[in-house]
Amino acid sequence: MQVLRQLVPSDAVALAELVQRNRAFLDPWEPVRPEEYFTLDGQREAVEYGLSRQADGAGYSQVILDETGAVAGRINLNNIVRGPFQSASVGYWLSEDAGGRGLATRAVVEMVGIAFGRLGLHRVEAGTIPENHRSQAVLRRAGFERFGYAVAYLNIAGRWRDHLLFQRLSPSS
Ligand SMILES: CC(C)(COP(=O)(O)OP(=O)(O)OC[C@H]1O[C@@H](n2cnc3c(N)ncnc32)[C@H](O)[C@@H]1OP(=O)(O)O)[C@@H](O)C(=O)NCCC(=O)NCCS
Repeated sequence: MQVLRQLVPSDAVALAELVQRNRAFLDPWEPVRPEEYFTLDGQREAVEYGLSRQADGAGYSQVILDETGAVAGRINLNNIVRGPFQSASVGYWLSEDAGGRGLATRAVVEMVGIAFGRLGLHRVEAGTIPENHRSQAVLRRAGFERFGYAVAYLNIAGRWRDHLLFQRLSPSS
């Protein structure tokens, strides 16, 4: 079963419901979001931003579907850089009630397939704060290897946090 589908504007309705319901679950692992982000208008804006980055070739946005075909989360390739780098960063979240059964792992595996196939990239990277053991397990199951440790790398939940850096290289590189 395929768990990814292209993000479309009408997904904003389901995404707004998910980010509202999962706010306390997602907060410790994400940048601080403005109040607007948790509204339908805020999600319309977030979807539009993702689609415009995709149209510019700088990003790639998919929704993660559960076994019933309902939207259960989001996964993006961010910062697609071409030239000699041919690299992107993957970021994802899954609704708490959809966790623990492999959907996030399958989503990352499918996104890597898109990155190395359709998009022709050489490398996908991801970063997690040291306590995010669930995300590190997803990356390891999806074939990523740790390659670095970055001090004060990203602002997560209001603090500049160190990150473990992971990457997976294209088999055809
Ligand atoms: C990080 C996050 C996506 C991980 O979700 P998850 O539910 O742990 O990941 P999966 O959907 O891949 O499920 C993995 C679990 O399903 C199990 N599983 C069952 N079938 C599986 C299958 N076919 N393939 C892989 N795992 C499977 C695994 O053993 C694992 O179980 P465990 O948690 O008991 O070890 C989720 O916790 C989340 O959204 N967190 C908040 C946001 C966040 O941290 N994002 C990442 C920032 S770097």
